[in-house]
Amino acid sequence: LTTPPPGGRQVLLAAPRGYCAGVDRAVVTVEKALDTYGAPVYVRKQIVHNRHVVEDLQARGAVFVEELDEVPPGSTVVFSAHGVSPAVHAQAAERELKAIDATCPLVTKVHHEARRFANEGLEILLIGHAGHEEVEGTTGEAPEHITLVQSPADVEHVELKDPSRVAWLSQTTLSVDETLETVGRLREKFPQLMDPPSDDICYATSNRQLAIKQIAARSDLVIVVGSANSSNTVRLVDVALESGARAAHRVDNAGEVDPAWFDGVASVGVTSGASVPEDLVRGVLDLLVEHGYPVAQEERLTEETLVFALPPELRRDLRKGA
Ligand code: F3S
Repeated sequence: LTTPPPGGRQVLLAAPRGYCAGVDRAVVTVEKALDTYGAPVYVRKQIVHNRHVVEDLQARGAVFVEELDEVPPGSTVVFSAHGVSPAVHAQAAERELKAIDATCPLVTKVHHEARRFANEGLEILLIGHAGHEEVEGTTGEAPEHITLVQSPADVEHVELKDPSRVAWLSQTTLSVDETLETVGRLREKFPQLMDPPSDDICYATSNRQLAIKQIAARSDLVIVVGSANSSNTVRLVDVALESGARAAHRVDNAGEVDPAWFDGVASVGVTSGASVPEDLVRGVLDLLVEHGYPVAQEERLTEETLVFALPPELRRDLRKGA
């Protein structure tokens, strides 16, 4: 770990940051679908929660829709990385759409867990945020069995038909610490609570949180690059503040950085959410240099090597040269 020069300025760059394997796969899926089938390719919801990525794909011919009834019958549609409920798959089949599912495999894993617990007749407490697409998709797997728990404070309101037959699952992009607290309270209330077979909060979410924790306490200011609707990005701001940063702000890009934030600030921490292209981080680092900060020093917590194969339906067509 670096020691700041006395009174000197420094920029600490967290790593890992930015694109995770699921986001990379989803973005490449839309790009390859455009190359393979030609524009327009429809995408249900934002492919990943980043404004710049969506605008870039739009410029290349992707058409983003909220629901499938906006997609002309027979068209190609890509489902976003956050996953969809079985009802959406059924609707796509009904409308005879060519559906390509870019759901992150780590979200699909949570869907499988939800189905398995539901088939075993368990009630499922899903820890997550109301209205988030991932939560809607997972809940759609077993709506009769799933109750949403949004925070530790929510636990006191949870009522179950049979407290001996209950399991918990979570959204993949939550705060690790807050989720542990929620699970701890749930277990106090329901001692027979069953755990998921493996962590639902994904490797990328936990790594980005651990990496910012490592530098937050040495940062007067933390800048998190990412969009407001990106769950894992917003959690990074919370984690930075809880871990000792004096201030933390989220920005979509360098243009949103307020130079007033630099008043009296010697040490700046920088990171980005899992759906953020690296050039947006570079823009913030360049801006810091313009304001007299030195070139950033990267502090890498761990290497990430995970890569996911593209969706099988797309791979098939790529092989055929469709
Ligand atoms: Fe998947 Fe985690 Fe990224 S669930 S899309 S690897 S943030």
